[in-house]
Amino acid sequence: MDRAAAYAALLESDPQAKVEATRAAQAAPARTDADAVFAAAAPGRPAAPVLVHPAKVARRGLGSAAGRAALVHAIAHIEFNAINLALDAVCRFGGMPADYYADWMRVAVEEAHHFSLLAAHLRAAYGRAYGDFPAHDGLWEMARKTADDVLARMALVPRILEARGLDVTPALRDGLAAHGDADAARILDIILADEIGHVAVGNRWFHHLCAARGLDAPAAFAQLCAARGAPPVRPPLNTAARLAAGFSAAELAGFS
Ligand SMILES: [Fe+2]
Ligand SMILES: [Fe+2]
Repeated sequence: MDRAAAYAALLESDPQAKVEATRAAQAAPARTDADAVFAAAAPGRPAAPVLVHPAKVARRGLGSAAGRAALVHAIAHIEFNAINLALDAVCRFGGMPADYYADWMRVAVEEAHHFSLLAAHLRAAYGRAYGDFPAHDGLWEMARKTADDVLARMALVPRILEARGLDVTPALRDGLAAHGDADAARILDIILADEIGHVAVGNRWFHHLCAARGLDAPAAFAQLCAARGAPPVRPPLNTAARLAAGFSAAELAGFS
């Protein structure tokens, strides 16, 4: 895998081309110096979806096809952002061990797979495309808040945002299944299984960096969350998934 190629994928704005460039970056021979820093001001994204304030993203019931399509679109948008977040973790932070880059490159390829599955399902089941509904930009906001420090990024993106996905995905999956979209439910099963691995990667490197800097991990996490404005961890938690992803039982008890 090559970090300069990952940066090209990060800047790519066409979704399908970004998926292909991400896979190509993983397959490419490593050519880039480990100390290189590729700091994108903003990732490549298509002109649509239109980005609006989170409060302006309409929520519709799952009883209608339009409501289910809007939910599948919203999840596809999260996965599109997740490709960029994983590529940014590869590109922005220099001087990390080779395993760190391999881990986040693998995450990026899995996010590209999640996005592709959802975009294809949106078209096949609902006749809609990624970009047809408005979306919000909250995920990249967290990337901005943690752009200066890989420890802050590991604390707040995988351990807060992706871990939140573990908590909420089962109910979304069940809602889509209950309203007859079994294919979407199967895709969310794949996503949930993979996302446990992504949170585990975040935990691995968060704890690695805490140890390397001589920091107490729980204290460092609390301090980073407060300083960077992380959203609070809200129960109910998916305890089984979070334990599988490397959170300790003591840590989860502290969230509730
Ligand atoms: Fe994902
Ligand atoms: Fe993920």
